[in-house]
Amino acid sequence: MNIELSTAYIGIDCRDPVQVGRYLHAVVGLMPAEPAAGAESRWRNDGKAARVWLRQAERDDAAAIGLEAVDAAAYRRVLQRLAAAGVATTPLSPAERELRGVGEGVSMMSPWGVKVDVVLGLVDAATPFASPHYPDGFVTGAQGFGHYVFVVNTAEAYEASRRFAMEALGMKLSDTLRMALGPAGAPEMNVSFLHANPRHHSLALAFVPMPEVPQKLHHVNFEVAAVAPVGAAYERALAAKTPLANTIGQHENDGMVSFYSVSPGGWLVEIGATGRTVGEDWDDRREYHRISLWGHQPPTVLQQLLVGA
Ligand SMILES: [Fe+2]
Repeated sequence: MNIELSTAYIGIDCRDPVQVGRYLHAVVGLMPAEPAAGAESRWRNDGKAARVWLRQAERDDAAAIGLEAVDAAAYRRVLQRLAAAGVATTPLSPAERELRGVGEGVSMMSPWGVKVDVVLGLVDAATPFASPHYPDGFVTGAQGFGHYVFVVNTAEAYEASRRFAMEALGMKLSDTLRMALGPAGAPEMNVSFLHANPRHHSLALAFVPMPEVPQKLHHVNFEVAAVAPVGAAYERALAAKTPLANTIGQHENDGMVSFYSVSPGGWLVEIGATGRTVGEDWDDRREYHRISLWGHQPPTVLQQLLVGA
C-alpha cells in the first residue's frame, strides 16, 4: 500500500510529569529515553530516540502529536496537500526539533484542538530497545509507535476533524462506530477510525455530544505482538493498584485484545495485541454498533459480577 505517514510520537502536558513517568515505566513498560531540553522526561517503545515526551504544565492533556513521513517525497506530498487544503503550518524551531528528535517538521493546529506535527527523519536511539516486560518488543516500524484517540463535542468539530485527517493529512477511513450512550433516546457517540499504514487505525476521532470536553486526549495505544505480555501488563496494573478504565476485552472492529488503565494525568493507556491490519484492498468500511466483542467492562460492572451485587 502507498504508505506516507505513521505515528511518530505524542507529547503530553502533565501537572505531575514525575508520577506520569513512573506509571509509563512501571505499569505500561516503556523505557527511559535520553533527556532533552523542554521535556521533564522522554520515553521509548522501540529503536527510535523518543516516542513519548512529558512536559510540565498546568493541565493534563496532549501537547502535540507527531506523524512521520516515510521519505522526503512523501513529506513533500503531505505538505502540498496541507497547503492545498488551506492549512497554515509553522516550521518546527531547532528547540522543538531537538525535543521531538526529528530532522525537520512543521506544526499546525488540528480542528480537535491539539497541535499536529508532520515530521521527517525521526532520530534513532543510540542503543537498541530492550524492555524486561516485552522481550519481543512493541509493534512499531512502518506502523509507527501506536495510535491515539481524541474527543470533540460538536458535530461541526467532528466533521472538520474528519476532513482535516482525510483531505489534508491523507488518512483513510477504516470504519466507524455509532452507539447510544444510554437507554433509548440517549445521545449517540460517533467514532471514525483512520489509517495511514497497515495499522487498523493510527488516529481515531470521537464525537461525544457533551457540554465540555474535559480532556481532548482519550487514550494512547501501544501494541505488542502477543496476548501474553498484555496479560502481564494487566497484572502489573492490578499489582500497582492503577485504576482501570476497562478490563481486558476485544474490540469488534480491529479485533484487538486489550485493556485500558488510567494514567496519573487522567487520560488512558490501551495496551493490546492481535490488532487487525488493513491493506490497499480494504473493503470492510462498516459501521459498528458496539465497541467490543467481549470484556472491556468498566470496573463497576466487574465489581457487580464478582460479588454478585
Ligand atoms: Fe484504542
